[in-house]
Amino acid sequence: MMVVTGATGNIGRELVRQLHTEGRGSGVRALTRDAARARAVLPAGVDLAEGDLGRADSLKSALDGARSLFLIAGVGDDAGILDVARDAGVEHVVLVSSITTVTHPHLGPARANLAVERRLRESGMAWTVLRPTQFASNTLWWAEAVREESAVRVPYPDIGLPAVHPADIASVARAGRGGAGPPRGGGPPPPSAVSHMRGMYVIRPSRGCRRRRPAPGSRPARRRRGGGSGA
Ligand SMILES: NC(=O)c1ccc[n+]([C@@H]2O[C@H](COP(=O)([O-])OP(=O)(O)OC[C@H]3O[C@@H](n4cnc5c(N)ncnc54)[C@H](OP(=O)(O)O)[C@@H]3O)[C@@H](O)[C@H]2O)c1
Repeated sequence: MMVVTGATGNIGRELVRQLHTEGRGSGVRALTRDAARARAVLPAGVDLAEGDLGRADSLKSALDGARSLFLIAGVGDDAGILDVARDAGVEHVVLVSSITTVTHPHLGPARANLAVERRLRESGMAWTVLRPTQFASNTLWWAEAVREESAVRVPYPDIGLPAVHPADIASVARAGRGGAGPPRGGGPPPPSAVSHMRGMYVIRPSRGCRRRRPAPGSRPARRRRGGGSGA
């Protein structure tokens, strides 16, 4: 049985759905801070456990009987969680790190991810580390601005970056649980690069897209989540 953290999030929701379908409900336990809220977004009958990633001790009962753990890094006390998982008898951890550990290893979030990866490798548990690029679902962060202003403010709109769908990450996590390694054939094809401008053309075909540059010296817009690449 796999315990899935971030179970109501982009990857976790899809991973729970896949494992639940595959194991007829017995192969997964979804971790959430609020079981009532999670019940509304997860398939009926999924085993739910409440716990707070910021308080590793609160995960002890959720991890009871688990063979594997799907862990999204950087949300809580990663080092403490790995200790609790090992003590609970977890044999294998699938960790979601980030491609920035390779592209920007000097930056704070990447350094933190590299530290968790190292801690996992030294934990004695088997491990699979996923280093995804930016998620395609980050585009949903534009929704509020599109609805309210018909405008999206992004830096470098023409630079193309690869984006991966969270469902594909979930599939790789599912294939890799139990230490089986990456799926045969090397997993999904490498994502192709998509610029913000291209993304806007795709989601706004009916009203079209117009490029505007901020007036010189104008004050930056109120910060909205999702202005950057998110990776
Ligand atoms: N977005 C990107 O472009 C990108 C790129 C590379 C790597 N990543 C990595 O991907 C991971 C995020 O994955 P995601 O997008 O699937 O997650 P997400 O949609 O942001 O969801 C986060 C989940 O974490 C849970 N959560 C938050 N705080 C918690 C806490 N204190 N205790 C327990 N659960 C908590 C929430 O569940 P409840 O509310 O139900 O408790 C929620 O379901 C991160 O590790 C991030 O670094 C992201």
